[in-house]
Amino acid sequence: KAAAVSIPVYFHVISKDSTLAGGNVPDSQISRQIAVLNEDYGSSGLGFSLAGTTRTVNANWFSNVGPDSTLQTTMKRQLRQGGSNALNVYTVAFGRAVDDGLLGYATFPSDYSSNPTEDGVVMLYAALPGGSATGFNLGRTLTHEAGHWVGLYHTFQGGCRGTGDQVSDTPPEASFATGCPTGRDTCSGGGVDPIHNFMDYSDDACMSEFTPGQITRFASQLRTYRGISI
Ligand code: ARG
Ligand code: ZN
Ligand code: CA
Repeated sequence: KAAAVSIPVYFHVISKDSTLAGGNVPDSQISRQIAVLNEDYGSSGLGFSLAGTTRTVNANWFSNVGPDSTLQTTMKRQLRQGGSNALNVYTVAFGRAVDDGLLGYATFPSDYSSNPTEDGVVMLYAALPGGSATGFNLGRTLTHEAGHWVGLYHTFQGGCRGTGDQVSDTPPEASFATGCPTGRDTCSGGGVDPIHNFMDYSDDACMSEFTPGQITRFASQLRTYRGISI
């Protein structure tokens, strides 16, 4: 079915030089990434369309824009476009942080009004569809990060107890899953772990769903904080 709402997406390619190895990803990978978003969110009625692409050569940003760094604030101040409904995506290398497994980070809808310029997703360029990040090159990193950007928490939030991810139809999970384990069940009751959920940490090929409860939550978050009605 046709998406009711289309989110404008601004892609900001940060590279250390003009080569692909230096992070200067081609337009073809960006359009494949938009297609993956539309596929993964399609059943919710949320669509995405490329509104613009910028390219910046800056070796410092490329390697050092980690979460909460002042450098990422500087970068976003110069590049961010659009209002509360616009998804800005910055592709970088993360330098040493990538050794800790960092694929991306995102801001939440509820943070938009207090900090509009920081709003958006920063992700590893190698995690775009067709990139070199083994196990993570089908485009699900942006599906996952956009999940935070629309207001979802991780499925393993809060472990086996408490309010968890604030969604009632995602079974509780003690910790994040890696790879694509069979029959993983880390909390008694509630069913097996939601390893196929986009908001776990499984490999891209293992991820395939948002639950109805997650869609209800992000529809509400988008309406409240981003002025988007699905
Ligand atoms: N670790 C990242 C985060 O916490 C993203 C995980 C994405 N997973 C994937 N299979 N691409 O936001
Ligand atoms: Zn996450
Ligand atoms: Ca269980």
